[in-house]
Amino acid sequence: MRLIFHLITYCSVVVTAYSHHWQAPGPNDSRAPCPMLNTLANHGYIPHNGLNVSKEQFLAAFDEAIHVDPNAIASVVDLGLTLSTTGNPNTLNLQDLAKHGEEIPQKLAYMTIRPAIEHDASLSRLDAALGDNLHFNPRVWAETSSKFTNSIISVQDAAAAHRYRIAQNRIENPGLSFGQKEAGFSYLETAIYMSVFGNATGINVQRRWVKTFFEHERLPWEQGWVKATIPIVREHVDNLIAQLVADDNANNEM
Ligand code: HEM
Ligand SMILES: *[C@@H]1O[C@H](CO)[C@@H](O)[C@H](O)[C@H]1NC(C)=O
Ligand SMILES: *[C@@H]1O[C@H](CO)[C@@H](O)[C@H](O)[C@H]1NC(C)=O
Ligand SMILES: *[C@@H]1O[C@H](CO)[C@@H](O)[C@H](O)[C@H]1NC(C)=O
Repeated sequence: MRLIFHLITYCSVVVTAYSHHWQAPGPNDSRAPCPMLNTLANHGYIPHNGLNVSKEQFLAAFDEAIHVDPNAIASVVDLGLTLSTTGNPNTLNLQDLAKHGEEIPQKLAYMTIRPAIEHDASLSRLDAALGDNLHFNPRVWAETSSKFTNSIISVQDAAAAHRYRIAQNRIENPGLSFGQKEAGFSYLETAIYMSVFGNATGINVQRRWVKTFFEHERLPWEQGWVKATIPIVREHVDNLIAQLVADDNANNEM
């Protein structure tokens, strides 16, 4: 009996590891400007082809792979779904998220903001006006990661990297559009990678984990990362955003 129990446990561990092993995207796989959604597709937490991904699939993947609570991210998923080109309002193709300042969809015509999430001054992508805003860009990332001078990324380092990219971007792209909405998303993106790689609270974020994530769109299990012990909730993310804003204020920027 006990042997059978162990066998079943062993098999399910092997199956999980197998079904979530990392596989590079092929030429026909849809990918997003978001390194985490691409990571989840590369590991098969959402369909590897990145097509027709539903809200339920996203939320289950966040919980299972990175322990992000649905409440922390559901509004971003909903916003993403407004950019869908699948013909089904509950699914999207990952590439739909690369829309940049698109026309406001008819059903959102009453809104005063543009719904696209993709923005200028990304940490790892070019601005849409300068070229490919979808794929990882080594030069852009070299600017950002030049501020990660220690093997642990502190909130101050993450804030400095974020500020530096925006400052460089203002030089590179005089047409930069970076208002309140864009700034809000970009703070959120830094806060959420710090929480995912810092056990919800943003402590002990190892630089090599963050590099593996951005550069290879891969979860850094082999480097000792494990998902947060406690679920990452809105409060964790908001708390990190507040720390980033405070650091910017202390440095007289933004
Ligand atoms: C379904 C939910 C999500 C959607 C629709 C989404 C969408 C996006 C989009 C469109 C961007 C591009 C923004 C830009 O122009 O830079 C982006 C960036 C980013 N996302 Fe997500 N995302 C989601 C969830 C997450 C989660 C859970 C994480 C956790 C780590 C994450 C981490 C990031 C990071 C770090 C960036 C910044 C990339 C950069 O600036 O180079 N996202 N996301
Ligand atoms: C990608 O799609 C093209 C056109 O439909 C097809 O010819 C090709 O075999 C596909 N490649 C892969 C790797 O599936
Ligand atoms: C995605 O959904 C569309 C529209 O419902 C369908 O035509 C297409 O075959 C689906 N593709 C995949 C890969 O599931
Ligand atoms: C993560 O945080 C939880 C709760 O704060 C704590 O119990 C746990 O030991 C932490 N894990 C690591 C690896 O730091």
